[in-house]
Amino acid sequence: MRVLGIETSCDETGVALYDSEHGLLSDALYSQVKMHAEYGGVVPELASRDHVRKLLPLIREVMAKAGLALDAVDGVAYTAGPGLIGALMVGASTGRALALGLGVPAIGVHHMEGHLLAPMLENNPPAFPFVALLVSGGHTQLVRVEGIGQYELLGESLDDAAGEAFDKAAKMLGLDYPGGPLIAKLALQGERGRYRFPRPMTDRPGLDFSFSGLKTFTLNTANAARDADGVIDPQTMADIACAFEDAVVETLAIKCRRALQQTGLKQLVIAGGVSANQRLRERLDEVVKKERAGLFYARHEFCTDNGAMIAYAGCQRLLAGQNSDLTILARPRWPLDTLDAI
Ligand code: KG4
Ligand code: ZN
Repeated sequence: MRVLGIETSCDETGVALYDSEHGLLSDALYSQVKMHAEYGGVVPELASRDHVRKLLPLIREVMAKAGLALDAVDGVAYTAGPGLIGALMVGASTGRALALGLGVPAIGVHHMEGHLLAPMLENNPPAFPFVALLVSGGHTQLVRVEGIGQYELLGESLDDAAGEAFDKAAKMLGLDYPGGPLIAKLALQGERGRYRFPRPMTDRPGLDFSFSGLKTFTLNTANAARDADGVIDPQTMADIACAFEDAVVETLAIKCRRALQQTGLKQLVIAGGVSANQRLRERLDEVVKKERAGLFYARHEFCTDNGAMIAYAGCQRLLAGQNSDLTILARPRWPLDTLDAI
């Protein structure tokens, strides 16, 4: 079965064609980050309009790259939520209409399920059951995954998501949006240990997170480091970025280790934009070694938003006989643990 996947939940237009027998046939992505960077964050209305401009050309590009015509598509998967309502509506209405026109089934996919299953697109994928750490701009969750749609929430952030914390800390340091990759890059030049940031909620049992306090800590540290002209010298900037990244990574690592111990599972999957973070991957590699477990993540470009993960997740559900009716499904809020199992 060949499934066209469409992702438009935030600021990336992603399209891909996945074949259940031959794997990923082609994919294409258009990122709006340059446009939003000017405003320091995603402007929802601009995002929707840009998805309208880019989606059809990307669908054509993906079909051309695969060397196939649209009638080779057996099903359409689109991100139905969670995300920005206007942005979601673009992908949902296009995907639903395209499926109707082609006479094939359509399925609305949960964005975080897409992220969670993205490592399945790699060689040596994880096998169910496993523990998943979902770390994106909007979510930080630890999930016990028994199978597709069988998600037990073990813990989550009570306030900011990990990616959001990266973006906000970056803003405080005067870096562009999205700040995650920029903090990570700057941190490489940092002197580890010059500053020590707290590891929130690690001193008590449980698997929940809280990252909003790190924001204040970053702001206070940055302000104390400013000279009379309000400038922070480059080395200090890097040292602060390094300490911030360390605090987030260490906090995530402590909770991941706890989740492995608590569940007794031996596989840890990390997914979502922050799973692209090199330091996080290295630190979790140490954790899984100690726990005699395995670590799984997607290639870099499939950690952040993309169409391939939606095509893959949608294909699994369509193969299981699930599909969405003619409703154009768009749910800004959609709890992961309410999905149907397949
Ligand atoms: O999954 P994603 O592309 O979009 C959402 O579903 O939210 O995640 C985007 C988030 C942003 O907050 C971005 O700053 C963060 O992922 N991110 C990173 C890195 N790459 C992306 N954070 C830390 N280190 C990175 N290398
Ligand atoms: Zn995402």
